[in-house]
Amino acid sequence: MKLIVHPAASPLAGRVTPPGDKSVSHRAAIFGGLAEGVTRVEGFLEAEDTLATLAAMSGLGARVAREGGRVRIEGGRLSAPSKPLDMGNSGTGMRLLTGALCGHPDLFGARVEVIGDASLSRRPMQRIIEPLGAMGARIESRGGYAPLVLEPRQLKPLACELKVASAQVKSAILLAGLNAAGETRIAEPGVSRDHTERLLPAFGVAIDRQDGEARLRGPARLKAARITVPGDLSSAAFLIAAAVMVPKSRISIGPVGVNPTRDGFLRIVEKMADGAVRIHPIENAEAGAEPVAMLEVSTPARLVGARIPAEWVPLAIDEFPLVMAMAATGQGETVIAGAEELRVKESDRLAVMSRQLRRLGVDVEERPDGATVRGGRVAGGRVESEGDHRIAMSLAVLAMVADGPVEIDGAEWIRTSYPAFVHDLESLGARLQWC
Ligand code: S3P
Repeated sequence: MKLIVHPAASPLAGRVTPPGDKSVSHRAAIFGGLAEGVTRVEGFLEAEDTLATLAAMSGLGARVAREGGRVRIEGGRLSAPSKPLDMGNSGTGMRLLTGALCGHPDLFGARVEVIGDASLSRRPMQRIIEPLGAMGARIESRGGYAPLVLEPRQLKPLACELKVASAQVKSAILLAGLNAAGETRIAEPGVSRDHTERLLPAFGVAIDRQDGEARLRGPARLKAARITVPGDLSSAAFLIAAAVMVPKSRISIGPVGVNPTRDGFLRIVEKMADGAVRIHPIENAEAGAEPVAMLEVSTPARLVGARIPAEWVPLAIDEFPLVMAMAATGQGETVIAGAEELRVKESDRLAVMSRQLRRLGVDVEERPDGATVRGGRVAGGRVESEGDHRIAMSLAVLAMVADGPVEIDGAEWIRTSYPAFVHDLESLGARLQWC
């Protein structure tokens, strides 16, 4: 489907409650299915990725009832699924679920097939197959890519240091560690998001975090919990960027999760658009507590290019297409480096974003581990999501300050993570139209 975005005719104004956090929703679905008893989740993200994970848990025998973002999961006893578990477009769903299932005693003797769409079938799974294999897991793949076939069996614990900072890989190993007798320990070369470490204790599993390591002792059974999913900062980021870029805007967004292991975008905005975002923390005492805040965003006096520190890359890993879009209208150059991981996301985000920005006349230089974007005028025209939800949304936000309308082909991918994206932007005064 095509989305046409018209240049903003007036400042953005209003308040938006962003959708539930995608990462936390995946985990709530998986942990709820593993946990004995009835887990209740509020604010679950109703988007294709997370609904695929919920459907997979249901295929594994969990009893799932959903009314909007309110989900009830009765878990604790898994059974072999009668058909492949289809994780759609979601790397998080596939990697975390594979970790959780590959040593699950209820599935010993079964063969569980885990599949995904064309994009997911091109994303590297060797990064989980290798450590899970070292724990004794048996996972067949097509040369390190999905489809995966698991033959769950007894695992042994693992102590390892990851080669890349990846919350998905770390979480897959921790979830496998639940079924291994002894201590599983993981160290990372940099900080990646810690939602798994925050949420497992809410389900009764102790996690020890010391000296940059996460440790848990198996075997451990999860107990049902009540979870409130915070708003997704990665979705809110599009609204933040829109208000930063469309002159004289003033909006408020929240409540939204501001977990310091994934707030890199807020740090980048501070560098590029000093004073644009004011953060008002909200006390939050819910299970699996994630820090939550209301954000007030107003257009800054200046939007300037910046050199993004490489150690911020994992903290803002999903926001780089958007950072490149913001950079396209800033003064001066923005330099992204140490970001080769962007090439193995839903698309090769360095290549795709560079290609699409050039179609709008933006000066971009792509490098193996990053890109340099030089700010200037942005032309109207026609671009393509190349099957990536965050590329589509980043281009839509940029289009609001282009010289003419921008047509975005393949914009239906937005449904993967933020189905209400167009509605929310319209509510702030933006002019978009599906056709
Ligand atoms: C996620 C981790 C990130 C991120 C993804 C969600 C998670 O990937 O890109 O959208 O929920 O654990 P990596 O940490 O594996 O890079």
